[in-house]
Amino acid sequence: MSLHSNVKRVTTHVLLAMKLKGEKIAMLTGYDYSFARLLDQAGIDVILVGDSASNVMAGFETTLPITLDNMIYHAASVVRATNRALVVVDLPFGTYQGNSKEALASAIRIMKETGASGVKLEGGIEIKESIERILSAGIPVMGHLGLTPQSIHKFGTYVVRATDKAEADKLKEDAKALSNTGCFAVVLEKIPAKLAGEVTQSISIPTIGIGAGSGVDGQVLVLHDMLGITQEFSPRFLRRYHNLQMEIKGAVQNYIDDVRSRQFPSKNEQY
Ligand code: KIV
Repeated sequence: MSLHSNVKRVTTHVLLAMKLKGEKIAMLTGYDYSFARLLDQAGIDVILVGDSASNVMAGFETTLPITLDNMIYHAASVVRATNRALVVVDLPFGTYQGNSKEALASAIRIMKETGASGVKLEGGIEIKESIERILSAGIPVMGHLGLTPQSIHKFGTYVVRATDKAEADKLKEDAKALSNTGCFAVVLEKIPAKLAGEVTQSISIPTIGIGAGSGVDGQVLVLHDMLGITQEFSPRFLRRYHNLQMEIKGAVQNYIDDVRSRQFPSKNEQY
C-alpha cells in the first residue's frame, strides 16, 4: 500500500518515509484559500506558500519586495483550506539572513499566525546559524539550493546554476550541511539533472526538484505556471498542464458580451 494514499495528514516524517520507500513527493505552490482547497482535495502532498507570490500574486519582477506580513496573509489562507497537505512557508528576503535571532522571530511569527507546519529558507552553510536556531525551537526547516531567486542581484540572471565544478562542489557540501543540521527536505532549483541525482543519493533527507531532472525525490512547480495562467514565463523545465489563461479570458469575454447584449441575466437568473 502506498504511503501517499494511506495517510490522513502529510507530515515531515511521511516525506522521509516516502523517500525511503522510493515514492515520489508531489509539491505545488499555493497562495490563497480557493486554489489551496482544490490542491488539497486533489491529493497534493505539500503546498509551498512560496515567495513567488511576489511575482504571481503581487506582480513584482522579483521575489525581494514581498514582506513577512504579506506571506503570513497568504499562508494563513492556505492553511485554512487544507486537511491533508503539509503546508510550508517561505521566509521572505531580509527576514533571516542577517541574524539568527531575527530568523527565529520571523519563523515563530509564521508558525503562530498561520498554523503552517514548517518554513523554507534559501541558502547553505552561510545561513546555518539561522537554521539551527529555528530548528532549536522545534520548527521544521526546508532548505533551498541552486537557483535561489532571492539572490538574483548576485547571480544577474535566472540561468542554470552549478554547471561548473566549484559551484557544484559547494552545492554538494551545502546539501550535506542542511541534511546533517536537521532540515527535513531541500529544494534543488535549476541545476543539472546529474548533479541533483548525485545530491539525492548522498543525503538522507528528501530532495524536491524544480528544473533539476528526474533523479530527485519529488517535484515542485509554481501553480500559476503549470496551470497556464502566467504567460511570459516558459523555461524548458516547465510542463503546462492547462491553458487556463485562454479559458479564463474566454469566459470573461463571453460574460462581457452577454452583459452588453443584455443576455445576462435571463428571467431565470433574477428574483
Ligand atoms: O517561491 C517559490 O515558488 C519557490 C519554488 C519555486 C520552489 O521557492
